[in-house]
Amino acid sequence: MALIAPSILSADFANLQAGVETIAESGADWVHVDVMDGLFVPNITIGIPVVAALRRVTSLPLDVHLMIDRPIRYVEQFCKAGADYLTIHVEADTPENTLAALEKIASFGVKPAISLKPGTPVEAVEPYLDKVAMILVMTVEPGFGGQKFMADMMPKLVTLREKLNQVNPGCLLEVDGGVDAHTCVTCKEAGAQVLVAGSAFFKAVDKAALVKVVQA
Ligand code: DX5
Ligand code: ZN
Repeated sequence: MALIAPSILSADFANLQAGVETIAESGADWVHVDVMDGLFVPNITIGIPVVAALRRVTSLPLDVHLMIDRPIRYVEQFCKAGADYLTIHVEADTPENTLAALEKIASFGVKPAISLKPGTPVEAVEPYLDKVAMILVMTVEPGFGGQKFMADMMPKLVTLREKLNQVNPGCLLEVDGGVDAHTCVTCKEAGAQVLVAGSAFFKAVDKAALVKVVQA
């Protein structure tokens, strides 16, 4: 049993309301929102007003993935815009600011989460294991949808689950990048509980069927 969070990065940006309605109608669990600043990653996508607009048109949880430099500058605004989960990257600031950002997110009643890029070892997120509601393991280099799934990230999930069981067993493990009807099986076997799917979801002819396969 897993949750699927389709990413609106692969939806039609001229009609995001239709995108979130498609997500809801498919039976998917959350809406994944990819925020990129052109600094932390070489792409620019959406910002705070778009998150607020999405909040008005869906009751599904908004899983907001901040791929931005020094996220502490903006976490309050993303919380107030309506994020349910707010993920920051461990590589995006100093350990002090990362901790402060996670605490700030929690202070708004929003679930704090932390993500690590493919090249970042599990040790980098160890100081935050008991401070987060979710850890997002990237299975592509962040920045773009439609990239190839990196199966060699799976040992990170296994290691994180072992460590979390000691200090924060309720913490969710999420994967993002290249997840489809085939790679989702590998992810779930390694312990992933929330699976982001962008291109696979929006390309699928039978979205409800894909959702069922991922959730199974
Ligand atoms: C990539 C984003 C992903 C992206 C996934 O930086 O964080 O959420 O939308 O897209 P797919 O599922 O196509 O790899
Ligand atoms: Zn993402």
